[in-house]
Amino acid sequence: MIVSYFAFTPVFRYPKRLHKVVRKLVPNCDVRFLLSESGSTKGAAMVTAVASRVQAQRKQIDKVLALFQLTREQLEGVQDKMRVELDYGLKRDTHPLATVKMLPTYVRGMPDGTAQVGRLWVCSVLVSPLPPNARTQGPARYMLVDAAPTFSTTEKGKFLALDLGGTNFRVLLVKIRSGWRSVRIYNKIFAIPLEIMQGTGEELFDHIVQCIADFLDYMGLKGAQLPLGFTFSFPCRQASIDKGTLIEWTKGFKATDCEGEDVVDMLREAIKRRNEFDLDIVAVVNDTVGTMMTCGYEDPNCEVGLIAGTGSNMCYMEEMRNIELVEGDEGKMCINTEWGGFGDNGCIDDIRTQYDKEVDEGSLNPGKQRYEKMTSGMYLGEIVRQILIDLTKQGLLFRGQISERLRTRGIFETKFLSQIESDRLALLQVRRILQQLGLDSTCEDSIVVKEVCGAVSRRAAQLYGAGLAAIVEKRREDQGLEHLKITVGVDGTLYKLHPQ
Ligand code: BGC
Repeated sequence: MIVSYFAFTPVFRYPKRLHKVVRKLVPNCDVRFLLSESGSTKGAAMVTAVASRVQAQRKQIDKVLALFQLTREQLEGVQDKMRVELDYGLKRDTHPLATVKMLPTYVRGMPDGTAQVGRLWVCSVLVSPLPPNARTQGPARYMLVDAAPTFSTTEKGKFLALDLGGTNFRVLLVKIRSGWRSVRIYNKIFAIPLEIMQGTGEELFDHIVQCIADFLDYMGLKGAQLPLGFTFSFPCRQASIDKGTLIEWTKGFKATDCEGEDVVDMLREAIKRRNEFDLDIVAVVNDTVGTMMTCGYEDPNCEVGLIAGTGSNMCYMEEMRNIELVEGDEGKMCINTEWGGFGDNGCIDDIRTQYDKEVDEGSLNPGKQRYEKMTSGMYLGEIVRQILIDLTKQGLLFRGQISERLRTRGIFETKFLSQIESDRLALLQVRRILQQLGLDSTCEDSIVVKEVCGAVSRRAAQLYGAGLAAIVEKRREDQGLEHLKITVGVDGTLYKLHPQ
């Protein structure tokens, strides 16, 4: 009986006493005690179930991310294919069908290594990216820059430059007092509304001229007569430095009646229509060419210009003897590769994912600029969005709910991608960015989104590297060198804004 006393009494009294003490010690708390039905076994089973669900989900996520991890062999494959396409573009017979257009720019390098571009140097300085020491003067959108290029000429006066290529349009004025040692650059940025980008050619060029008029007005140069350089960052076939026939629009542009037309003529006509000022259009250059020349001031080894921004492209100095489309074998000429079209013949379809295909199909120019669509700022966010939609459909993100916001094209701008990918950013901040985008995420969601952004931008950089390797190796072989020393001039928001 003593045994039973010890066996039962404490059992009956124990809970009561425990409850009583808790109530006494924390009178302001209402504590409920629930007796577990099957001991701890059920709980352990539940933990196991959750863990195995998490494991299975992780596997599904990893499977998607693995599509963006390129092996060294795959990257070498891209390099080799790019090399083949570069050669196709240079040869007269294969050029018409080449996807990498390899357009001669008429910017020449002389046999002694100097560049022969005349007044184009002026334009190149005009359109160069503003240096970090740029100071603002007047309204915030005007920049005054003290520049000291490394060469001196007797050039003097005022020059105008235009830069059309992304969502913004820039107008610049350069004032040179006594040689290049005293240069002042004023610059204003204008937005190009979507309806203008995709309206008629006449509307687009009238808008450009309207912006020039505003700028000249502000600068007190109304009715001025100035030489002008035009950075036009779209594929143009050039017959000389001041002529450029637009082959086709890329990025977000789709203005009608421009393809097949000379953009310099279109600009001249719009200036005439306005009949307010007279501008002497000296040169039209691609942004890659402007970048290469700007960096060339700093470093004479700079023979490549690379843009990793809204769009993607590269130019480089090629031996004249290899350019079959242009007469003459002496010296070098800058080739605008327009490598964004690489892969349009299906040669890199083995590494394109279903997400790349979806982005392509939803774009303004399906089937075109496939390499650009895997590597440039305008499309990376879209690839991320397509992956997130798929992961949500699979129930791996956002509690399986595809919000209206996630269905909206273009919500992931490059700047968000760069911010999310930044290592310094705590997950809470990632969540906040997603919230700003209207995406209600859990902590686990933000980890996955960060991984997706990382995978997409890593692949873009690797593909760019493989393309660039093709050019660099070609230059080394063409010069018969054991070892090549070369500098690549780079510009573009993707390169500048992304975490290093
Ligand atoms: C255009 C190129 C340009 C590049 C970078 C591409 O879409 O076709 O001409 O250089 O974007 O702006």
